[in-house]
Amino acid sequence: MGAAPANQRKKVTLGTLRSLHRKGEAITMMTAHDFPSALVADHAGMDVILVGDSLAMVALGMEDTSEILVEEMLLHCRSVARATKSAFVIGDLPMGSYEVAPEQAHLTAIRYIKEGRVQGIKLEGGKEMASTIQRITAAGIPVLGHIGLTPQRQNALGGFRVQGKTCKSAMAILEDALAVQEAGCFAAVLEAVPAEVAALITETLSIPTIGIGAGAGCSGQVLVQTDMTGNFPPGRYLPKFVKKYGDVWSEAMKAIEAYREEVKSRDYPAKEHTYPMPQEEFEAFEKAVKNL
Ligand code: KIV
Repeated sequence: MGAAPANQRKKVTLGTLRSLHRKGEAITMMTAHDFPSALVADHAGMDVILVGDSLAMVALGMEDTSEILVEEMLLHCRSVARATKSAFVIGDLPMGSYEVAPEQAHLTAIRYIKEGRVQGIKLEGGKEMASTIQRITAAGIPVLGHIGLTPQRQNALGGFRVQGKTCKSAMAILEDALAVQEAGCFAAVLEAVPAEVAALITETLSIPTIGIGAGAGCSGQVLVQTDMTGNFPPGRYLPKFVKKYGDVWSEAMKAIEAYREEVKSRDYPAKEHTYPMPQEEFEAFEKAVKNL
């Protein structure tokens, strides 16, 4: 299962990401929450795989991301890391595991590297997280910032709302962006920000921005894999920025329904799905059963 792709790429490093940014080539990022979703993202050539805390909702069925624990994230990080041969893997720090003090965040980040086997971490927040980011990056752990809409703070933000729609709030996001850059982030996710604001922030920064709901002017893009592959039942709410590139749900439904039909009708398993036995051995077995 963990076989490397036939056309194996070189391992993506921070150097690779910096070089893509320098050349103006878009950075591709995608979430993966387990071994198979990481395997396909890596084989498909993603530069970065993010074990986002969105897994709380889309993979574990939790109400929101605040419920997930570090231990649960680490289990998923390890499975993603095992599957990923080339992409740069980042693990998301869950709510409550880093905001108390830089030391707490540093200890959690170390667990992600040692136990989660990821290459970097992501944490939400701007200016107020600068000293925390500084502490982690100074210890040699790459940090991806996350500003704009920060879902872990949805209660304070009044829900999943677009951020930076006024000059004042756009300025606040720019200040956050400059603060996380100054603190040492190698890149920053910009979530749910008007495209023109995100583009101007991207032009102002020297580190790459990774947009989600922030338009084409960012240095790269990230999407949640279950959303963009259409791996969910019809009728589920999808944010405006999500483009559904596939219909995994329909494909899986088709396959599982066909399997159900064939099991009921006894068309499955067919002869080609069974293991052969020498005729004389079977006859001997049949005789032995009769003589019981
Ligand atoms: O948790 C997540 O998947 C994320 C991305 C959407 C950026 O934070």
